[in-house]
Amino acid sequence: MDRETAQKQIVKLVGEIQRHNRLYYQEDRPELTDTEYDTLFRELQELEECFPDLAPPDSPTGRVGGAPLDRFIPVRHRRPMLSLENALDESDLHEFDERIRRFLGMTSGEIDYVCEPKMDGLAVELVYEEGILSTGATRGDGITGEEVTRNLKTVRNIPLRLNRPTPPPLLELRGEIYLPLAPFQKLNQEREENGEPPFANPRNAAAGAIRQLDSRITARRPLSLFCYAPGEVEGHTFTSQTDFLATIAAWGLPVNPLAQKVVGTAGVIDYFREMAAGRDALPYEIDGVVIKVDSYALQQELGEKTRSPRWAIAWKFPPRQAITRVESIVPSVGRTGVVTPVANLKPVEVSGVTVSRATLHNWEELEKKDIRVGDTVVVERAGDVIPAVVRVLTEHRTGAELPVHPPLCCPACGSAIARITDEVALRCLNLACPAQIREAIIHFASRTAMDIDGMGDRYVDQLLSLDLVRTVADLYTLTRDDFMQFQRMGEKLAENLLTAIQGSKQRELGRFIYALGIRHVGAQTAKLLAAAFGTIENLAAATVEELLSVREVGPQVAQSIRSCFDNPHNQEVIARLLAAGVSPFTTAKQVGGKFTGKTFVFTGSLTRFTRDGAKALVEQEGGHAAGSISGKTDYVVAGSDAGSKLNKALSLGVKVISEAEFLSLVEGTEQP
Ligand code: IVH
Repeated sequence: MDRETAQKQIVKLVGEIQRHNRLYYQEDRPELTDTEYDTLFRELQELEECFPDLAPPDSPTGRVGGAPLDRFIPVRHRRPMLSLENALDESDLHEFDERIRRFLGMTSGEIDYVCEPKMDGLAVELVYEEGILSTGATRGDGITGEEVTRNLKTVRNIPLRLNRPTPPPLLELRGEIYLPLAPFQKLNQEREENGEPPFANPRNAAAGAIRQLDSRITARRPLSLFCYAPGEVEGHTFTSQTDFLATIAAWGLPVNPLAQKVVGTAGVIDYFREMAAGRDALPYEIDGVVIKVDSYALQQELGEKTRSPRWAIAWKFPPRQAITRVESIVPSVGRTGVVTPVANLKPVEVSGVTVSRATLHNWEELEKKDIRVGDTVVVERAGDVIPAVVRVLTEHRTGAELPVHPPLCCPACGSAIARITDEVALRCLNLACPAQIREAIIHFASRTAMDIDGMGDRYVDQLLSLDLVRTVADLYTLTRDDFMQFQRMGEKLAENLLTAIQGSKQRELGRFIYALGIRHVGAQTAKLLAAAFGTIENLAAATVEELLSVREVGPQVAQSIRSCFDNPHNQEVIARLLAAGVSPFTTAKQVGGKFTGKTFVFTGSLTRFTRDGAKALVEQEGGHAAGSISGKTDYVVAGSDAGSKLNKALSLGVKVISEAEFLSLVEGTEQP
């Protein structure tokens, strides 16, 4: 193709793809199937590869990342990126307020502040020239950062081009890149299963993703941005923080909807308490509240010190940490055979939750932190359900503390354990290891899987010690007499357990797939697989390519599913389950599903599902997923940066729920 034709074709494709992106992400009324969209996209990618200089700066291909860089280029910020002074309590806040009033010569009246959640992520700068994203950089030391434009372009809620009509010729913005909690936990789970060290908190995971030389890796982490301050701006004047947030939101930039204008310190204190009480329910980690003088004229008058402005302060939450003692460190064998050290702790309360165990993730970490039995340690809940040991207070050592070494053989079955190449984890290689079987059976019977009521750890342990089960299939051949051998077992209880086992033969296919405990296949992925393949036989026969065509399935997941069904032992267990009468069913568009007659609208960016995935879940339960809100809508599921639809929902009085609440409805922990 000649240059001129290529140029025309590129312009045409970019326009088309941008239109389809808008239809899909903003208006919820896609016109193309995924395959049709992919075809357009690939055609553009190929043309841009042949004629790299013809690729426009806001080309949608920038979203998927490109070949790795050798290093990052330093960029100097046009204005330094300052940091904030911290307030630790109310008296610090009053001091801040008094300092401001003194500086401004105020003798009466209150200051208007804007309060915002303090996002626990990493600060970046975005530069828009004539409305087009031209550069993105990390904060670095505040004066010079690193140019990470390609990585930032993969962040879904960062617009590559601002909404018209009024973006100024130059707009520099500061904001925080963060990784929401759900993908953070998923990422860590995957890393642990692969024997990679998990991230200590979502901030480290987000920072790691942004500082990737290979932007394709960044593209795979569902990062998100909230903008919170202007940098250098030409051709537009903002009058206040309230004005700034509203204006840039209209240009299509993501701002935190929880930002709020308040009056005086009393208003700030109310806001702080509200956020402290609500922080656990947010889908992302915040570590405090940022308080800013609203008026930009007053901000200017107040000016800044060398490292921080006088007009803002960060009021930090108390850390979710506590001090306790390590009582023992024991190796524990997981469902996939990974042997990890677990610390049993003297029970201690960490911001409202009693903590008595902490994972130490892996043996290298144990050694690095030099945690010994008897040590006094700091424990922390850091955006993760499982608490972690942060560090040892060595000044408390008496000399009686005992170091612990990795086991040489599996603590459960005594067979060899090995370090798999490229993994830090130790793994028990015995497929018949009782600890792995124990975890697999507990998982199989759990509420999100086959939901065998009453079949918890205690009974599973007895079944194993009496050698009554060796695989999950053996559960279905248990008799009343088998149960009567248990300690403290009565006729009625045995009957109930048998009924629960029988009842679990009829379960949705998605639950059954999840129950098999295939590595990397969580409950959501299992539901999508069920919707895509319809029967366990179809899934078992699916090729890697067919598996990859399911939206949420990547190469690693596809490979893991294939290896599960290729394993003769697994084939036998599944055949025995089916022969025993387990008959998973699909509820595709089933009448009588949980959502029958209910209409859902999804808006904003979802972190736990793709749009298609969420719609499939609704339809599986007999509901309808619509593109736009009307009086007939029952629920609006609002993602992190839900825009105008949210206002419409509120004005129509339609119920608005979060992604987490939607998930509870799907999983049945709440009734629609
Ligand atoms: S304003 C000069 N607003 O906190 C004012 N910062 O401790 C610049 N941060 O480097 C910061 N959420 O990375 C601002 N809503 C928010 C924020 C926020 C998180 C971070 C930011 C900054 C650090 C200062």
